[in-house]
Amino acid sequence: MARQLIAGNWKMNGLSSQLSFFDDLVNAVGDSPAELLICPPATLIERCSRAADGSGIAIGAQDCHVSASGAHTGDLSVAMLADAGARFVILGHSERRADHGETSAEVKAKAEAVLAGGLTSIICVGETLEQREQGNAETVVTEQLLASLPENAGDRCEIAYEPVWAIGTGRTASSADIVAMHGALKAALPAGVSARILYGGSVKPQNAEEILGLDNVDGALVGGASLNPVDFAGIIKNTRC
Ligand code: PGA
Repeated sequence: MARQLIAGNWKMNGLSSQLSFFDDLVNAVGDSPAELLICPPATLIERCSRAADGSGIAIGAQDCHVSASGAHTGDLSVAMLADAGARFVILGHSERRADHGETSAEVKAKAEAVLAGGLTSIICVGETLEQREQGNAETVVTEQLLASLPENAGDRCEIAYEPVWAIGTGRTASSADIVAMHGALKAALPAGVSARILYGGSVKPQNAEEILGLDNVDGALVGGASLNPVDFAGIIKNTRC
């Protein structure tokens, strides 16, 4: 069984005045069998890398540009993110797909850039409520996955299944739906790709034990509850050993 990855996505939250988060998290968690990751806004990647140094907590980014450098005002390349201390890059989050019109083809190109830059991507996929109610969730999500995966992902690509309707809403998919979707995604992975499949969408200390105990759930991608070290620790403590 894969070691579980518990990743925090801070989204557009976080200032340098909040870096005591890392000491507070380490104190609250103690020893954890999980791999831990925090993806702060790009402005904090370098300072978070320093604050997390020696803690075993990895730092990641929330997006990247496909190109290595050049005339792309406001964008950041994989090399820049790595230089600041990032080891992972979240790609294709539904908020980016919605707010910036990111397509799976663009996500795939970014994932290729992440691979080329020596980092690991976390590719997000998930259905809307309408797609689930129409009975199309598994088809939509596996198609999204296959269109977003880079060639030769090997072991440097993770997947996050995040139903769009469960993000930030307090609603989570049922255990049966999570198991079914994670099983479908595992089955759809090309030979040679050993991606972990994380669940995301309103994961909290109160539901973490149930979700992290499910078959084929290799971790969690946590938004809101990753902003508070006590809540995030409460999730981490439910890691399956
Ligand atoms: P949430 O966000 O935990 O606040 O629902 C999850 C995510 O968007 O990754």
